Amino acid sequence: MAKVKSKWVCQECGYETAGYLGKCPECGAWGSFTEEVQSLQKPVAFLDDIKPSPLTDIHIGEEVRIKTNISEFDRILGGGLVQGALVLIAGDPGIGKSTILLQTGGELCKSGKKVLYVSAEESSSQIKLRAERLSINCDNLYIYPQTNMEAIKAQIEELSPDIVVIDSIQAIYSGVISSSAGSVSQIRECCNFLMQIAKTKNITVLVIGHVTKDGNIAGPKVLEHMVDTVIYFEGDKYKSFRILRSMKNRFGNTSEVGIFEMKSNGLSCVTNPNELFLNERSQEAIPGSAIVVANEGTRPLLVEIQALVGTTPYAAPRRVTNGVDTSRLLQILAVLEKRVGLNLSKQDVYVNVTGGIEVDEPSADLGIALAVATCARDVVVDSQTVIIGEIGLSGEVHPVNNIEKRLNEAALSGFKKAIIPYANKIKSDKIEVIPVKRLIDAISACVSNVGSV
Ligand SMILES: Nc1ncnc2c1ncn2[C@@H]1O[C@H](COP(=O)(O)OP(=O)(O)OP(=O)(O)O)[C@@H](O)[C@H]1O
Ligand SMILES: [Mg+2]
Ligand SMILES: [Zn+2]
Repeated sequence: MAKVKSKWVCQECGYETAGYLGKCPECGAWGSFTEEVQSLQKPVAFLDDIKPSPLTDIHIGEEVRIKTNISEFDRILGGGLVQGALVLIAGDPGIGKSTILLQTGGELCKSGKKVLYVSAEESSSQIKLRAERLSINCDNLYIYPQTNMEAIKAQIEELSPDIVVIDSIQAIYSGVISSSAGSVSQIRECCNFLMQIAKTKNITVLVIGHVTKDGNIAGPKVLEHMVDTVIYFEGDKYKSFRILRSMKNRFGNTSEVGIFEMKSNGLSCVTNPNELFLNERSQEAIPGSAIVVANEGTRPLLVEIQALVGTTPYAAPRRVTNGVDTSRLLQILAVLEKRVGLNLSKQDVYVNVTGGIEVDEPSADLGIALAVATCARDVVVDSQTVIIGEIGLSGEVHPVNNIEKRLNEAALSGFKKAIIPYANKIKSDKIEVIPVKRLIDAISACVSNVGSV
């Protein structure tokens, strides 16, 4: 009989010990250890036929890209799926992970690829229902309801598909390990298994992963290290659009985002997102609103920042953000107090990015500052003006990258003026450019129509 070894594994980070621990020495989590039993496997024999070779002697085969024909998905993948890559797609429950991969499967079939869709969570008829809604009907798309990793491997060998979809990594298990599906050891083992299949058979494997309450991929961090590409599926559940964001990509840029709209017949690509994010805005300028041009990958996005400032009923004033980093806001508020003389110590400040997207780029600083300042003083930023610039601690405006692209996008969306960092000063015949050196200059430049702050 095979020898059986048991170990205690932290379900938060994957740290292993021989006995129970109350607190994980690696990640500091309490009560996160569970016992996992593993039968000892013989170590894999060394493959002697692999020898080190000089870099100059290595020839690269052509990297084969498989276009999914879903333009926004191809964009974040860096031009399509790479053959033999392991791609992880993570997101909140119900955000549309199964939908996008079923749609991708359908598109790939149309271009003659064989796709195996392993459904560990839903029955074949549930998938069929979804496929009908998405108008996918294709005899090259195989649906396989299975949770056992070894059985999945056998089917992959028999079918030899070009693409395998695993829905989801938390629901499959390997018979080698006795712990339940979704545990750290199972996820790690199954991911290893899939990695081998991808690399040895040159099959592209797309894996769905769930995220925990705090937005991390459920399971060990090693999962993200092992795979080639990590893509997060985000979005406002109550709105119809969804954002795919690549966090890691061994075959392309990582700052790209893909924008989709969820419709009854599936996810459709949004090719002009600026219309979507700005169409709810009132045409009239209102205090506390500023339009910034945030760069999402290679594409500039115009988004509206809204601020609300009011006298606080609490002992400590509140700072609430939605879509921007709270510590970034605190820093901007500190600069506004110290360098502009705006007293906010008795004021609650709420900052919101409309459209449910996250702006984590410093170029939005100036827009956030102007939204807060105009709301506090009850003045307005002209509704035809966009604001671009990062703010330093002494109130200076730092330059940003890709200024030309940002200005072009703003002009395309019908904006007439742009406040930009002085160091980025360029001439543009499409839009009037107002370069500023300091935050205070920006404030007086854009609210000059109603007097200074
Ligand atoms: N008839 C419909 N019309 C419009 N949208 C729909 C319809 N049916 C489902 N949806 C959308 O699809 C979402 C579910 O998509 P999907 O099952 O792909 O999500 P998921 O991320 O795989 O979820 P889970 O975590 O449960 O596996 C719903 O939350 C809803 O937004
Ligand atoms: Mg699903
Ligand atoms: Zn831990």
